[in-house]
Amino acid sequence: MVVLDGENGRDFFSWLVHVKLSRIVLLVFIILLFTPLITHFYLSKVEKNSYFIEHGAHSHEDLPEDGYSFNKEDLRKGVEELLRIRGSVLSELRDIEKKRQQYKSEIQSYMRQLDETKQELAHQQTNLNRLKISVEQAQVAQREALQQNTPDLALPKRLTVDELPIVLPEISKSSSRKCRMHNCFDHSRCSLTSGFPVYLYDPDQYPVMNDGWDVDGFLKTTLKQTLGYNPHLTNDPKQACIYLVLVGEALKDTDDVTENVNNHLNLPALDSEALKRLPYWGGDGRNHVLLNLARRDLSSLSGDMFSNIDTGRSILVQSTFNFDLYRQDFDLIISPVLGPPGGDVWQECNPMLPARRHYLLTFQGEMKKPKTASYNPRNDDSEDNTELNRFILHHLNELSKTTTSDKFFFEFECNPASDNNLNTVIQDWALCGTDSSRRALLKDSTFVLIFAPGQQDLISTTLLQARVYEALRSGSIPVILGGDQIKLAYYEVIQWRRAAIFLPRHRITELHFLLRAIPDEDVLLMRRQGRLIWEKYLASVQSTLDTIVAVLRDRLNIPATPAETVAAVSVFNETFQPIQVTVASEVEQEESLGPLEPPFDSPAFRRNYSLALVQGTELWNDWGDPFRLYPTLPVDPFLSSDAKFIGSGRGFRPIGQGQGGSGKEFSEALGGNYPREQFTVLILTYEREQVLLDSIARLRGLPYLNSVVVIWNSPRPPSAELRWPSIGVPVHVVKAARNSLNNRFLPLDNLKTEAILSVDDDAHLRHDEILFGFRVWREHRDRIVGFPGRYHAWDINTKTSWLYNSNYSCELSMVLTGAAFIHRHYLHLYWKWLPQAIRDKVDEYMNCEDIAMNFLVSHVTRKPPVKVTSRWTFRCPGCPQSLSEDDTHFQERHKCINFFTQVFGYTPLLNTQYRADSILFKTRIPHDKQKCFKFI
Ligand SMILES: *[C@@H]1O[C@H](CO)[C@@H](O)[C@H](O)[C@H]1NC(C)=O
Ligand SMILES: *[C@@H]1O[C@H](CO)[C@@H](O)[C@H](O)[C@H]1NC(C)=O
Ligand SMILES: *[C@@H]1O[C@H](CO)[C@@H](O)[C@H](O)[C@H]1NC(C)=O
Repeated sequence: MVVLDGENGRDFFSWLVHVKLSRIVLLVFIILLFTPLITHFYLSKVEKNSYFIEHGAHSHEDLPEDGYSFNKEDLRKGVEELLRIRGSVLSELRDIEKKRQQYKSEIQSYMRQLDETKQELAHQQTNLNRLKISVEQAQVAQREALQQNTPDLALPKRLTVDELPIVLPEISKSSSRKCRMHNCFDHSRCSLTSGFPVYLYDPDQYPVMNDGWDVDGFLKTTLKQTLGYNPHLTNDPKQACIYLVLVGEALKDTDDVTENVNNHLNLPALDSEALKRLPYWGGDGRNHVLLNLARRDLSSLSGDMFSNIDTGRSILVQSTFNFDLYRQDFDLIISPVLGPPGGDVWQECNPMLPARRHYLLTFQGEMKKPKTASYNPRNDDSEDNTELNRFILHHLNELSKTTTSDKFFFEFECNPASDNNLNTVIQDWALCGTDSSRRALLKDSTFVLIFAPGQQDLISTTLLQARVYEALRSGSIPVILGGDQIKLAYYEVIQWRRAAIFLPRHRITELHFLLRAIPDEDVLLMRRQGRLIWEKYLASVQSTLDTIVAVLRDRLNIPATPAETVAAVSVFNETFQPIQVTVASEVEQEESLGPLEPPFDSPAFRRNYSLALVQGTELWNDWGDPFRLYPTLPVDPFLSSDAKFIGSGRGFRPIGQGQGGSGKEFSEALGGNYPREQFTVLILTYEREQVLLDSIARLRGLPYLNSVVVIWNSPRPPSAELRWPSIGVPVHVVKAARNSLNNRFLPLDNLKTEAILSVDDDAHLRHDEILFGFRVWREHRDRIVGFPGRYHAWDINTKTSWLYNSNYSCELSMVLTGAAFIHRHYLHLYWKWLPQAIRDKVDEYMNCEDIAMNFLVSHVTRKPPVKVTSRWTFRCPGCPQSLSEDDTHFQERHKCINFFTQVFGYTPLLNTQYRADSILFKTRIPHDKQKCFKFI
C-alpha cells in the first residue's frame, strides 16, 4: 500500500500535476475506492489485536499488565493515525477537485486553440493558394517580359530645330496660288516629337498694315493673352514650327466703327513689304500663318484681305474666301470671333427643349448689291441667278402663308430705321434687326434659313459664318440654301452635316417637306451637335485660336501636349512621418479572389501617333478633346478575342488559359477583352480619422489593388499619433489646397491606373463586391459602374422640374461616386471640360459633386450608369453620420439637378432598369462545381 503522506506523497502529487486529467479521474476513483478498504483493514486489525489480548488474558496469566495498557495505547494511536489519514485524504481530495476544475478549463482552452489553429490552417491554405496564384501570375508576367520582342518605344522627349529659317528666294504669285502643304510647307521645322511650337509676332512690334490702318486693339490684346494659355506657344523663334502674324481685323486709325464702315469701302490694304520685312519670313514666308480674324460680321471690314497681296508660301486664315483664291487643305476657313475672350459660355445658349419650337423656319435679311469697284459683275452669272433668287423669294413667301400647323417667319426687307449695316463690298445678304431682336427670334426657331453668298464664286463669307455662329448659339438648326456652294469653318475636321442642313438652291421647293420629315430625335441630335461645335470651337477668342492651332497641328499628325495633372502633395514630410502598423483584417476573406501582385501601372500614351488617325473624327466631333493628349481614353480600341492567342497576347490573362471555367480558374485570371490591369482606390476624407483608418485597413489583401490615394480635405494635418494600417500597397495621403468636394475628382499625378474606385471614407464594401465591380467596369470602361443607385424623378406637382430621389426603385439614372468605378479620364474632363459654374455650385452647397459627375459621363457617352450587385446601402454600421443625411441635403440635390440641366441645356441623365450580377449567380449547378463568386 502506498503511503499517502510525507515526502513520497508530495512527489506523487508533483508527478500527478503532469498527467492528463483522465488519469487523474481514474486515480481519484482508485483513491475513493481504496480509502474504505484501508480503513476496514486497520479496523479489523485493531479488532484482532483486542481479541487476542482478551483471550491472552484468560489463557496466558503471565502476560504483564502493561501489555493491556500497551494495546490500549496502540489502539488510540491507531485511531489517531486513522483520523490523520482521513484529514489528509480529505484535503488531498479537495486539492484534486481544484486541479480537476483547473484541468477542465485548460482543456476547454486547448479545444479553443485547436479550433483557432484549424481556422488558421484553412486561412493559411487560402493564403497559400493565393500566393500560388500570385506566383503563377508573376511567372507569366516574367515570361512575357522575356519573350517580349517589341520593346516599349519612346522617341527622344522632344526634337526641335534650333535655327532660324534661312532666306530663300521669293516665289511668284502664280506659284503661290498653287501652294499645298507638300510644296509650300517646311516639314523639317516640325518633327513628330517637336510638340508643335508656335511663335507669335507681337502685333505692336511688327505692324504689317498700310499707313493709317491698324489691327483692332481688342483683338491684339486678347490674342496675346489667350495664346498665352496655349501650351504650344513659344518665345523662341529658332524652335518654332509655325509663325503667327495677326493682320486683321483692321480699322482705320480712328476708333469710330461707324466711320470706318461708312468711309472706307475698299478693303484695308496689307503692306506686303512689311510682311517681307518680318524677321523670320525667310524670303518666301513658309510656315507663316496670316490671321485675319473678323470681329464684326461686316464684309467691308474683313473681306478677303489677301486678294491683291503677294503672300508667298504663307497660310491664309480668314472667314471670307473666293473659290479661285482658296487653296484647299492649305488655307483655313474660320468663324469670326464674335464671342468673349474666354470663360464659361453656356449662359449665351438657349435650352435645347422643346425639340420643336414656335417657328419651324425663320429668316431675317436683305440682299445687298455691292457698292464698290471691287464688285466684279463677271462673277455674278446675273440673269439665271436673279431669276432663281426671285423664284426662291416667291416660294418662301408662299410658304409663309401655309395652311399647315407649321409656322414660318420671313423678313426680306430690313426696316431702314434700324439698319446701319448697309455697306458691303460683295453681293451678299445683309442683316436685319438688332442683335437682341435676332436672338429672340432664333430662340423660337427650330430651323433658321441662311443664304449662301449671292455672288456664287464665294465659298465663305464672314457674314455666312456669323449667321451660322448665331444660329448654333441659340440652338436653331442652320439650313443653308446654296449649301453645295459653301464651306463652313474648319470643315477638314468638323462634320458639319451632323449640325446643319446643306440644301442646293434648286431644292427650295422640297424644303418644307424635308424639314417636316426630320423626327424630334434627329432635331435634338443636330441641335446638341451644333452646340458642341459652338462651345468647343467657335464660342470665344480662346476657342478660336486653340482650334486654329489644333487644326494645323492635326494636319501634321503631331500629338497635342499632354493633359496637365495635379501634383499630389503628401500631408507627410521628412519631419512628420506616419506611424505604420500591421493590422489583422477584421474579416478574413473566405474566398481566394485573385492574385496579389506588385503594383502594375496602366500603360499610358501608347497612341500618340495613331489616335488622331484612327479616331480623329470622334476626337473632333464626339467624346473627344482634340486640344490635349490623354494617357488613355475610355474608348480606346481593343483586340478581337482571337488576337490574344494569335500574336498579340501580351498582358492578357484569359480564364483557364483560354479554356474558360468558373470557381478557381475564374478567380485566377481577369479574362475579358482587355489586358491585365489594376485599380486605384480614391478616398475623400474630412476629419473622420478612425473611420478612414478602418476603411483603409479593410483593403488589406485586396487583389488587383494598385494603391490607395486619400485626399485629405481638412486644413488640419492628421494627428501625429494616428496608426496607419499597412496593407501591402502604397497609401498616399494627399493634402488638398482647400476643403472642396470637387477635390474628389482631382486628376492627380499619382493615379497610375485607368480604373479608379471612388469611395466615401465610410463606405463599407466587401472584397468580392469590389472585384466584381472591377470586372464589370472593365467591360464598361466609359461608364460609371458602382453600387448606390439613385434617380431623377419628374416633379409631378410643379411639372417643371426634377427631384432627386434615393428611394428603392426599379429604374435608376445615377450611380453615386461614393462607391463606384470611373475612368481616370473623367477626372480630367471634370476639371477641364465642365463649365466652372458647376464646380462653383458644388462648392456653394458643399454637395452634388457626384451628381455633376453623373451628368458629365452621361452627357459624353449618352449612356446610363451601371449598377452592380443587389446591395443598396453602403455606410459602415455604427459610423458617425455623414453630412448627407439631413433634409437640406436633399433640397440642395433637387436644386443641383435643375441647375445642371440649365447649364447643359438639357438633362443628360438616362434611365436604366439593368443591374449586373455575376454570370452564375443563382444558377443551379452540380454540387461539385463552383460558381464565379460565392455570394454574388
Ligand atoms: C507619347 O507622349 C507622351 C507625353 O508627351 C510621352 O511621355 C511618351 O513618351 C510618348 N510616347 C511615345 C511612344 O513617343
Ligand atoms: C511637416 O508637416 C507638419 C504637419 O503638417 C508641419 O507642422 C511641419 O512644419 C512640416 N515640416 C516641414 C519641414 O515641412
Ligand atoms: C420616398 O418614398 C416615400 C414613401 O414611400 C415618400 O414619402 C418620399 O417622399 C420619397 N422620397 C423621395 C425623395 O421621393
